[in-house]
Amino acid sequence: SAMDTAKGVNFLLTNGGKMEDYWGTNRATKPMLPSIGIPTTIGTGSEAQSYALISQENTHIKMACGDKKAQFRTVILDPTLTKTLPRDVAAITGIDAIAHAVESYVCTKRNPRSQIYSSHAWDLLNEHYEPALEKQNSKARGEMLFGAYLAGLAIENSMLGAAHACANPLTAKYGLTHGIAVALMLPHVIRFNIETIEELYSEIYPAKTIVDRIKHLKKIGELPNKLQECHVKNSVDSNDIPTLANDAADQWTAQFNPRPLQIHDYIELYKEIF
Ligand SMILES: [Fe+2]
Repeated sequence: SAMDTAKGVNFLLTNGGKMEDYWGTNRATKPMLPSIGIPTTIGTGSEAQSYALISQENTHIKMACGDKKAQFRTVILDPTLTKTLPRDVAAITGIDAIAHAVESYVCTKRNPRSQIYSSHAWDLLNEHYEPALEKQNSKARGEMLFGAYLAGLAIENSMLGAAHACANPLTAKYGLTHGIAVALMLPHVIRFNIETIEELYSEIYPAKTIVDRIKHLKKIGELPNKLQECHVKNSVDSNDIPTLANDAADQWTAQFNPRPLQIHDYIELYKEIF
């Protein structure tokens, strides 16, 4: 996002070198500039985080470059700035925020503090997702902005899981928008996890099955269930699955999924969207 770019620029401007030098945590040795984060979509939560996610130019691999000094000193959440955000972008970024809330709530780095952020985020995002698709509903978009921010704080205090681990190779391989890739994988990852941590999902959403709710929200947002429904850069070929599975297992977020995955688990997850 533009906010990740701003953090990236801050690294290079104050500490020099190239983006790869900051891949990891706390690699910047010199002070960084104070900055203000103002989101204009309703989803990434980047405004709450000390990590900049930057794609490596030649490989399209997402480099997570994190430093407390890179975090925005001030955040402004103003729904009037989302007035021109189109419905489809609201749907895509909104479902990404929902994935942040859900994945952070159950990940192995979850803790009482992060779970408060996650569950409050989920409540806001779940309630306001549908009305916030409409441009003129500034009230709902404001609630989504706050929900996405809280979900970002939840990640900052914990981590993500396999839906994000599986999404990144899809973005690298097919040029899929991050939120679309996450939306494709999220229901399948929850279904995989539910066998071991069902009670955690019912804590966050006691009303009914969280998978059904997310599938319903995806339908409202007109989000795809299969890769074939998406506009992709390269042709979709199920022979790609083993490579995607290996790449997903290498993702940083993969190790924090509450139910550990083997390569064959990633293969099964990917098969669901081909
Ligand atoms: Fe995300």
